[in-house]
Amino acid sequence: MTDLFGIMRTPRAVLFGNGQRHALGRVAAGLGQRVLVCTDERFAGTPEMSGLLAALGSAGVRVQVFDRTQPDLPVEGVYECVAAHRAFQPDAIVGLGGGSCLDMAKLVSLLLAHGGEASDYYGEYKVPGPTIPVIALPTTSGTGSEVTPVAVLADSARDLKVGVSSPHLIPHTAICDPELTLTCPKGLTAIAGADALTHAIESLTAVRRSPDPDISQTRVFVGKNAFSDQQALIAIRALAAHLPRAVEDGSDLHARGQVMAAALAAGLAFGVAGTAAAHAIQYPIGALTHTAHGAGVATLMPYVMDFNAPACADDYADISQAMGDTETDRGRLAANAPRHVYALFAKIGIPATLAGLGVRADQLDWIAAQSMLSARLVTNNPRPLDQAGIAAIVAAAHAGHGTFHASR
Ligand SMILES: NC(=O)c1ccc[n+]([C@@H]2O[C@H](COP(=O)([O-])OP(=O)(O)OC[C@H]3O[C@@H](n4cnc5c(N)ncnc54)[C@H](O)[C@@H]3O)[C@@H](O)[C@H]2O)c1
Repeated sequence: MTDLFGIMRTPRAVLFGNGQRHALGRVAAGLGQRVLVCTDERFAGTPEMSGLLAALGSAGVRVQVFDRTQPDLPVEGVYECVAAHRAFQPDAIVGLGGGSCLDMAKLVSLLLAHGGEASDYYGEYKVPGPTIPVIALPTTSGTGSEVTPVAVLADSARDLKVGVSSPHLIPHTAICDPELTLTCPKGLTAIAGADALTHAIESLTAVRRSPDPDISQTRVFVGKNAFSDQQALIAIRALAAHLPRAVEDGSDLHARGQVMAAALAAGLAFGVAGTAAAHAIQYPIGALTHTAHGAGVATLMPYVMDFNAPACADDYADISQAMGDTETDRGRLAANAPRHVYALFAKIGIPATLAGLGVRADQLDWIAAQSMLSARLVTNNPRPLDQAGIAAIVAAAHAGHGTFHASR
């Protein structure tokens, strides 16, 4: 038995529930008089946007809007927003949209507070101090960015996406209103929900490090711990029970709410524990295929689980139970986990193989080599991972060789 050890990092407040978006005006007014809203063209054209702007106005707040956030967040867009709104000197920044808009708000808040280039802050713990407070309102249920200490962006100077990770990037307030997700089409609901499930599984199974007192001050992502385990299992349970329904009938507000709560819990888990092999391998796959992050990590997850199985028996048994398996033998429960995850992803339309994502066999060696560059993710994997190990995972994931296939 290991001693209880846990790290928890969260926003100051999380407001969750249908209609909670209407608190935005008063929350923002509590932070100052000038508010910058970062969103995208889609949301800017909705009646919801007009309603939220009216609420901000009624609360006595002056507002500027940047509505040109692009998916996957090219760094040029971040600079464009910073340049356009620097003179406004916002007291708070609202991120309103999917993970790309929330990450935009985080990065703009960082660059307005501390200056410099985005690349000055790539990696962990490079942010020198507090940033402008961010209020995050997600309109997808997946990334968990509303509570995480990371922002992900695409820098044209680099092949792979990059991250800025610091507890200073955790939003001040998260406002999670499931009604904002009602417009998500099936594919987006599935991919975002799959991203959340992958966050939860990779947090629960992350490496367990020695809990020395410096760990939280030297690492943003500390590995598996008691608090992140709890959040991860909450997320897995809710996603197994409600994600297929939310994908099948997007108007089911109960299912939407459960999935949004799960994405939030998974964000709280991975924002401290970190993710691992599936995320390391997705980055080069995303760069090659331009497929969604959530689709890539979810396609990889069952194959990564096969590889990690020798190191994760206990956690896999917990995953199976959380997914509704009533088997009583822990060994059999553990063995069943990759199959449950694969079956859930199959049900919501996630590709079964890397070939299905558009990866060619002659690209596998490059993918394995590039994956190793995400050292933080590679060393967070529960089973020691080298290039040969990654090559084995991608070969299996490309060909569709998994222990879980027999039952499909
Ligand atoms: N910061 C983090 O912790 C974290 C974690 C995981 C992923 N990410 C990043 O988040 C991004 C992905 O975010 P995402 O999956 O939320 O998608 P997204 O923000 O990239 O948006 C994808 C598309 O969905 C549309 N959309 C968003 N909400 C909608 C709604 N309610 N109805 C209809 N359409 C809607 C957007 O307009 C956009 O066209 C990636 O850049 C990824 O790397 C960040």
